[in-house]
Amino acid sequence: MKKTIIITGGAGFIGSHVVRLFVNKYPDYLIVNLDKLTYAGNLANLKDIEEKDNYTFVKGDIVDTTFVQNIFDEFAVDGVIHLAAESHVDRSIANPIEFVMTNVVGTVNLLNATRTKWKDNYKDKLFYHISTDEVYGALGNEGFFTEETKYDPHSPYSASKASSDHFVRAYHDTYKLPVVISNCSNNYGPYHFPEKLIPLAINNIKNNKPIPVYGKGENVRDWLWVEDHARAIDAIYHNGKIGDTYNIGGFNEWKNIDLIKLLCKIMDEKLHRDPGTSEKLIAYVTDRAGHDLRYAIDASKLNTELGWQPSLQFEEGLEKTVDWYLANEEWLNNITSGSYKKYYEEQYENR
Ligand code: NAD
Ligand code: DAU
Repeated sequence: MKKTIIITGGAGFIGSHVVRLFVNKYPDYLIVNLDKLTYAGNLANLKDIEEKDNYTFVKGDIVDTTFVQNIFDEFAVDGVIHLAAESHVDRSIANPIEFVMTNVVGTVNLLNATRTKWKDNYKDKLFYHISTDEVYGALGNEGFFTEETKYDPHSPYSASKASSDHFVRAYHDTYKLPVVISNCSNNYGPYHFPEKLIPLAINNIKNNKPIPVYGKGENVRDWLWVEDHARAIDAIYHNGKIGDTYNIGGFNEWKNIDLIKLLCKIMDEKLHRDPGTSEKLIAYVTDRAGHDLRYAIDASKLNTELGWQPSLQFEEGLEKTVDWYLANEEWLNNITSGSYKKYYEEQYENR
């Protein structure tokens, strides 16, 4: 094998798309998927590639220092693409400490292990940290996040991600560890866990349950097709400049309520319901605490320097997403029938 890359969080939503892309595109790389399989990790996301010769899965917790060190003894690692994280803002509001452990301590464990293993020879090595646009805080009605925007996180989730970004940069500045960071906007597409807005709404519409819209539904997110994020990660892993940051976004801003109305229209068509049927399920509920008003990414650096751009229009991507969820009922039912059901009931009980 030409290279060995550890992808952390490879059984999650975005991680599974990154693993799939790398395993299929680079048959001469060994891809090691390192994942704890929390509630959000699901090996069913990788069924189509799990038998490939250049893929292997290791179950473990990045918070466990000894486990992380052992992995770097077992594999001659050339690169790390670090996606493992607690990723849901509402869960971070309910239980921040989990986010500090995985997102901060787990990241520092990985940084330490790579530094120890690589310190005599950094040539052709790379620690690639996957981060979020939420570290930049909230925008008003105007402007975009650029790579120079000052960090201003508001939720325990975004504070933990910001902290991990700072550690990654600190290891570059202090120990010269070869790192790169990207900060991406909201992803959507297949295998998205149904606690997040789009898959949660699809599932509820399908089951004729209320669609919980926080506050007035006026918050704005910039949505990106998840496979486009995976392609951006590929471009940055191979051609990004060491020590640099790249913003990734869809140039695709939607108010939550407008997005939900579009989704309702698509679902009415797919489920052969009368126009307007699904919209009746919209239920305005108590707002998220500290809810950031607007995120919007300026991804022009990635476009200019590495030639990346999104491949799909949102309407097309949303329809593909709906088709995927309707065709993969078993995947969805396996998730929504387990411990997630309890979380869902608690989360929405008093809203
Ligand atoms: P996800 O919650 O779907 O998946 C996270 C994965 O990490 C799961 O497979 C889980 O089992 C694993 N994991 C969690 N804790 C772990 C631990 N302690 N040790 C090992 N594995 C652990 O998350 P996602 O939405 O795919 O996000 C992946 C990454 O991308 C995260 O770092 C997130 O901050 C970032 N990101 C996400 C989005 C988005 O829209 N979802 C946007 C920008 C950036
Ligand atoms: O911006 C990137 C981030 O996008 C990632 O870093 C996070 O990991 C990812 O979860 C996502 O965060 P958001 O908080 O933006 O995603 P979520 O799907 O939870 O919510 C999207 C918007 O919809 C947000 O404004 C809150 C709102 N919302 C969400 C849920 C779950 C609702 O109105 N109702 C809901 O039930």
